[in-house]
Amino acid sequence: MGSARSTTSLMLVLGFLSTVHVWTQIVKTEGPTTEFIFRGFRGNQSEILTAGDATITPDGLLRLTDQKLDITGTSFYRKPVRLLATDRSSTNSMVRSFSTCFVFVIIPTSPSNGGYGLTLTISPTPNRTGADSGQYLGLLNNDTNGNPRNHVFALEFDTAQGFKDGDDRAGNHIGINYNSLTSDIQEAVVYHDNDDPGRKEDFTLQSGDPIRALLNKKASAHYVMGWSFSSGGEHPVAAMLNLSDLPRRPLNTEKKRGYDSKDIAMIVALSVVTLILLVSLIFFVMYKKRLQQGEILEDWEINHPHRLRYKDLYSATDGFNEDRIIGAGGFGTVFRGSLSSSSSDQIAVKKIVPNSMQGIREFIAEIESLGRLSHKNLVKLRGWCKHKGELLLTYDYIPKGSLYSLLYTIPRQTGAVLSWDVRFQIAKGIASGLLYLHEEWEQIVVHRDVKTSNVLIDEDMNPRLGDFGLARLCERGSQSHTTVIVGSQGYMAPEITRNGVSSPASDVFAFGVLLLEIVSGRKPTDSESFFLPDWVMELHASGEKFRAVDPKLKSGGYDVGEAKLALAVGLLCCRQRPVSRPSMRMVMRYLNGDEEVPELDN
Ligand SMILES: *[C@@H]1O[C@H](CO)[C@@H](O)[C@H](O)[C@H]1NC(C)=O
Ligand SMILES: *[C@@H]1O[C@H](CO)[C@@H](O)[C@H](O)[C@H]1NC(C)=O
Ligand SMILES: *[C@@H]1O[C@H](CO)[C@@H](O)[C@H](O)[C@H]1NC(C)=O
Ligand SMILES: *[C@@H]1O[C@H](CO)[C@@H](O)[C@H](O)[C@H]1NC(C)=O
Repeated sequence: MGSARSTTSLMLVLGFLSTVHVWTQIVKTEGPTTEFIFRGFRGNQSEILTAGDATITPDGLLRLTDQKLDITGTSFYRKPVRLLATDRSSTNSMVRSFSTCFVFVIIPTSPSNGGYGLTLTISPTPNRTGADSGQYLGLLNNDTNGNPRNHVFALEFDTAQGFKDGDDRAGNHIGINYNSLTSDIQEAVVYHDNDDPGRKEDFTLQSGDPIRALLNKKASAHYVMGWSFSSGGEHPVAAMLNLSDLPRRPLNTEKKRGYDSKDIAMIVALSVVTLILLVSLIFFVMYKKRLQQGEILEDWEINHPHRLRYKDLYSATDGFNEDRIIGAGGFGTVFRGSLSSSSSDQIAVKKIVPNSMQGIREFIAEIESLGRLSHKNLVKLRGWCKHKGELLLTYDYIPKGSLYSLLYTIPRQTGAVLSWDVRFQIAKGIASGLLYLHEEWEQIVVHRDVKTSNVLIDEDMNPRLGDFGLARLCERGSQSHTTVIVGSQGYMAPEITRNGVSSPASDVFAFGVLLLEIVSGRKPTDSESFFLPDWVMELHASGEKFRAVDPKLKSGGYDVGEAKLALAVGLLCCRQRPVSRPSMRMVMRYLNGDEEVPELDN
């Protein structure tokens, strides 16, 4: 957030008219940029947030303070300015370059008094309640001075001398302050005369007579006449303000000035080159700190690449609006959202309320590693966020919904039946995703909850397995040491119900059920006595296996060879003993016709 702010109380300078440029290195970065230019502020009440004594005068000057004692005035550009960006050439977050130009004038009350200066501030909030005037610059107070949680950056135009409590006040200077009144960096100010731009001199207030006369004022009025800003975009350098375009400079009501204001009208140019890198660094540190402060994080939560901000998820889902719910059940409620304003970048946010937060740290460590899983048949896990008692998992949004709805809900509602080709394609895709989890990644991941509602279908009718690894959460959530059975009715391998052991072989069992489901269009159980694999097995034994094929696929509506293959593989996967079931690699080979399916014996 950019701002100009000022504070008045103790001493300062007489009316000088200055143009200030601040810039940092231009680095090519991605993301939204901000550009604005105020040539005077007439009609701009709605773009500028003013507080304290600040106001916009009828002639379009932004008056930060008038000549009263012990007052502060702040004004902020209303919209937040995004200064963090991603460097195009690396994936690092970095501070966006920005450039700003503003013209200000400071008018003291009387030749023997002066006020404190003016700062250009970047603050995480425009609400600086409790900030004091005087040396506290309207930014800080005795309690907050130096506190690293301030996250306040100020470019200070302090033309006063000796009144600050600190030790850095060697006189007129421009300082970079970070969270504290003490300048982290000070630079000599050079100026050049308005009428002779080539002439540059050190701008030390003790030097020239007229300037010395500026000192020792007690209160001043601070006006900003124009302000431009750019954080990249089309014009990476802030528009130069031409004095002739700006409102007339305020009249100095002080009569006994004893010098011609024109003489001291000057443009202050900062020699910021040496500051540039430091400024960037400070911003970066500030951002990091702020990131940590925005949400109360435990130590271990910091530095997880997949941790997302609650704020972002909240706004992405319209505050977890009910209208955004696209699914519920199993592990929690799923909301649809979009992270950026472009609606193309859609996400699904799953809100889970675990039985307990115990073991959540280990679970998140696991989530972090699952975030690195990447396969075309897995739903991409983008990140997670822990908020109060909730865990929010964010995935790519998959448009066509679940295989469950394509097999059951949509045919019932619209009569649209999933074709055989697509079904077979989906079956192979799921097998491929499971193979990746079991054998092709750096560690074995047991899915534990393979079922039609966990298979999502993308635009190209590719299946994507979701919710992998999540079943562990339920297990960990349980307080007692008794094993919690994880899995879904109808898909659970017998060894799971017997002794709670999940393994790749139990995933293979669930896949077998799912495969039979794809072929038959029947749910694994629909009554107490019905169990899909048993039913298919009976039909197989009585030589009527094709009766198991979904009757909605009319005769000729499916490939007989492929259907036979799928039924055989499904039954093979549903064998009672885990060791008799094929591995996912074998399943892939069978489905691709690379290997003959063995005869069923049980
Ligand atoms: C300031 O107000 C004027 C007049 O309403 C408008 O044309 C201009 O765009 C505003 N400037 C900014 C930076 O919003
Ligand atoms: C500003 O912050 C103070 C204390 O942090 C708070 O009490 C006050 O409500 C805030 N004001 C606004 C307008 O947000
Ligand atoms: C300012 O803070 C310091 C340390 O926190 C304290 O010793 C001092 O009394 C405070 N001064 C005022 C004027 O409150
Ligand atoms: C400022 O504006 C005046 C009048 O429009 C013009 O003559 C002058 O060249 C401008 N100066 C700059 C530096 O653009």
